Amino acid sequence: MIDAIKLQNFRNFGSKKIEFTPGTSLIIGPNASGKTNILESLYFLSTGKSFKANVEEEIINYDKDICRVEGRVAGPKTETLDLEAIVTRGQINIGAGRPEKAPRKKLLVNGIPRRMIDFAGNFKIVLFGPWDMDLVTESPSIRRKFLDTVLAQVDREYRRSILSYEKGLRQRNRVLWDIREGNAGHDRLLFWNQLLVKNGNYITEKREEFIDFINNLEFEINSLKFNLTYDKSVISESRLEQYGQEEIGAAITLVGPHRDDFVFNKGERSLASFGSRGEQRMGVLWLKMAELSFIEDKSGERSTLLLDDIFSELDGPHREIVVDIAGRQQTIITSVNDEFAKDLKKVERIELIR
Ligand SMILES: Nc1ncnc2c1ncn2[C@@H]1O[C@H](COP(=O)(O)OP(=O)(O)O)[C@@H](O)[C@H]1O
Ligand SMILES: [Mg+2]
Repeated sequence: MIDAIKLQNFRNFGSKKIEFTPGTSLIIGPNASGKTNILESLYFLSTGKSFKANVEEEIINYDKDICRVEGRVAGPKTETLDLEAIVTRGQINIGAGRPEKAPRKKLLVNGIPRRMIDFAGNFKIVLFGPWDMDLVTESPSIRRKFLDTVLAQVDREYRRSILSYEKGLRQRNRVLWDIREGNAGHDRLLFWNQLLVKNGNYITEKREEFIDFINNLEFEINSLKFNLTYDKSVISESRLEQYGQEEIGAAITLVGPHRDDFVFNKGERSLASFGSRGEQRMGVLWLKMAELSFIEDKSGERSTLLLDDIFSELDGPHREIVVDIAGRQQTIITSVNDEFAKDLKKVERIELIR
């Protein structure tokens, strides 16, 4: 749960403080007033990363060279924590002198610098916005990112495995390249094979656990029953051996969780191929509800639900479902108008002006 945030030079905000109720907060403001930016800042406190920016320094206000997000969070079991994220462009101008070098990112918990894997997971969120429709219809990388976002919140070892796996993958691909060019022997692969198999198996195991968990949940949305099929790419010594020649030819690692995917189904049929737009939307909502349940099951905490501008896309009955869900944990909703405010319980308005 988040009590309050303070933004400095984050996107369009110069200096901004916001307090959040444990109930529902409704952030109201015209287009481009910074509603999504606020949710992005909360996501940053949760994960130590941006969900939008490809280059992290994009979150720094155009005219500045350093930005800061601070937040006070509290869980039902944990004490209050002060989280702070600072992002720079790599240097800071101090007065008239020459620009000074600065770390690009600093993450702190209670004022103490922490690594990403120790910073993340202190503030648990489930974020839902219009872009999540891509989960059904777009490329596998979006679905893998979803799996990582869920699992990374509740599992420090998963956070470590992902970082180690991704680093190892880049190294191994470089070695494959060197072997192909005749600049390295096959023995150079052994270390990286072991590292990828070890971390890759952990990732696969946890992803499978999550997908099993959500397939065993009993809830339906509008009497629609959804499920996921895990399309996994297992990594093992024998699989690496099997694809060895091909991998050297392509200079790319061809098996492993970086090639995973899952299929969204309504009943026995693929939602991407056969579902209506409305059914796909309900499928994504179902997935987000499952995410809330999973995080609660693993951590004993209900995460904060962040809903970005989703009411405009929902019709009456579907809005009721969301209103009902909003009442079950701290929820922060953004919207251009407040015609839904009356349906929400324990709601506090936060107004933004452009
Ligand atoms: N780094 C930045 N510095 C200053 N303004 C920014 C930066 N990044 C985005 N913006 C501004 O933020 C606004 C968009 O904010 P957003 O949160 O998407 O609005 P809303 O969700 O309320 O429609 C745009 O006007 C954009 O120009
Ligand atoms: Mg927006």
